[in-house]
Amino acid sequence: MKILLLGKQGQIGCAIYEQLKYKDEVIGLNRNQCDFRYHQQIEYCISSIKPDLIINAAAYTNVDLAEDQENEVFQINTIAPGFLAQKANLLNIPIVHFSTDYVFDGKKEGAYIEEDLTHPLSVYARSKCEGERLIKLYQSKHFILRTSRVFSPYSDNFIKKIIRLTKEKDNLFVINDQYAAPTSAKWIAKVTSLFIEKIKSNEAFDLYGTYHIALENSISWWEYAQYIVKVLVDLNVAIKLKPSAIMPINSSDYRQKALRPLHSKLDISKVKKTFVLEFPHWRKEVENTINLIIQSSLHEKIECKKIPD
Ligand SMILES: NC(=O)c1ccc[n+]([C@@H]2O[C@H](COP(=O)([O-])OP(=O)(O)OC[C@H]3O[C@@H](n4cnc5c(N)ncnc54)[C@H](OP(=O)(O)O)[C@@H]3O)[C@@H](O)[C@H]2O)c1
Repeated sequence: MKILLLGKQGQIGCAIYEQLKYKDEVIGLNRNQCDFRYHQQIEYCISSIKPDLIINAAAYTNVDLAEDQENEVFQINTIAPGFLAQKANLLNIPIVHFSTDYVFDGKKEGAYIEEDLTHPLSVYARSKCEGERLIKLYQSKHFILRTSRVFSPYSDNFIKKIIRLTKEKDNLFVINDQYAAPTSAKWIAKVTSLFIEKIKSNEAFDLYGTYHIALENSISWWEYAQYIVKVLVDLNVAIKLKPSAIMPINSSDYRQKALRPLHSKLDISKVKKTFVLEFPHWRKEVENTINLIIQSSLHEKIECKKIPD
């Protein structure tokens, strides 16, 4: 199957490429090769590649910066995905698109199911929510995969930020009242490949729709940071910051430009019902990722170099 993978240099894009590269013909494009701000570029890429499937892992993901760049954010997270879905519909090919737990406001007691009403709190969240709406509107053959707190050895993420700060800081305040599930890009890529197998074997028709794909446990940023530092200590990595010097703080006492949901745990029963899946524990996945980052000493900047331009 010829797959057009957009956003090849992001966390999920890199992991998907690694997952699929031996099984499929994957043509990965980065921002320079297919800039979502220009529809002619998107049009040209699709018409010259003629894919059997489009995977959109590209997005504007800086939640705070997004507050000041609404037009660009909507261009990348809403208008371009809508355009991709229109093109996919014209070609009669499916589209896989990623979305976020931030489409919810975090006020529900318990985990969010796919059908729950969305109520985004920020520019980023609204742009992703509208992106979902346009995908659904233009191409019924879609998988919208919502996930949360993505981490990987690639691109920028919370683990790499904490590793950086442990070397620079003596103490750190980390938010302790926002809960969600850290989810590894590697695992997201594995689940994505299962959906692709269904497309390939013509079993996707009854499955198209929205799915929550996250790991099981919902934790606060503070617990998450504590665990990252514990792993670093266990690995004897030289750090300045001690676990006891990571102090919990509430969102209301911490300046963040964009509002975030406090409890955005995603219910994952639907994906569990669809596939027989072994869910890794987030701790194990975090540990593996830290090991990869440390071993390759690439925590400053890891690029997905194996993907040809
Ligand atoms: N990160 C999270 O915690 C998280 C949580 C929930 C959902 N998600 C969703 O998961 C998906 C992937 O996230 P991720 O963590 O893999 O993001 P990421 O690492 O930030 O990667 C996003 C990719 O999009 C590309 N991109 C940005 N602007 C673009 C443009 N104008 N044209 C084309 N490409 C552009 C970036 O290119 P450059 O490399 O050139 O910047 C980057 O490679 C997104 O849909 C996101 O909303 C992420």
